[in-house]
Amino acid sequence: MTPSADLFSDIESQLAGLFAGERDLIANAANCSALLFERLPDVNWVGFYFLREGELVLGPFQGRPACIRIPLGRGVCGTVARDGSSLRVDDVHEFADHIVCDAASNAEVAVPLLKEGRLLGVLDVDSPTRARFGAEDQAGLERVAALFIASVDG
Ligand code: SME
Repeated sequence: MTPSADLFSDIESQLAGLFAGERDLIANAANCSALLFERLPDVNWVGFYFLREGELVLGPFQGRPACIRIPLGRGVCGTVARDGSSLRVDDVHEFADHIVCDAASNAEVAVPLLKEGRLLGVLDVDSPTRARFGAEDQAGLERVAALFIASVDG
């Protein structure tokens, strides 16, 4: 396995332990963002947005304070929420309509949280390094999102 695949399989095992016996959305999102922030190298923001009355609202996160509400279809997170598929962006400054939260962010991966076809929200990870994330990171974060979704009643 490549280093990134190894790292994600380790993270997935740790998450399974953290989620065991707990179904609370906020508690599991808080621990998930803390674990990803601690284990993923070269990231400056990891967190959740949850769908609330038709827009994304900031949930548990690690990093600098972020924008609180994102309309569907706006920015990277709003696009992911609208389309229901993940996005990996090498340079956020080239992404039309990108929403700047931390000026240090240059690369981003956002993954939709879909439970039985219903959108719960988005998991978002930012890095100060352009093209920081590869296909394995995107796939790893999709598996993390699936574990999170399975861990909550939503
Ligand atoms: N950059 C995101 C906004 C969220 S922050 O990065 C935490 C976007 O364009 O959706």
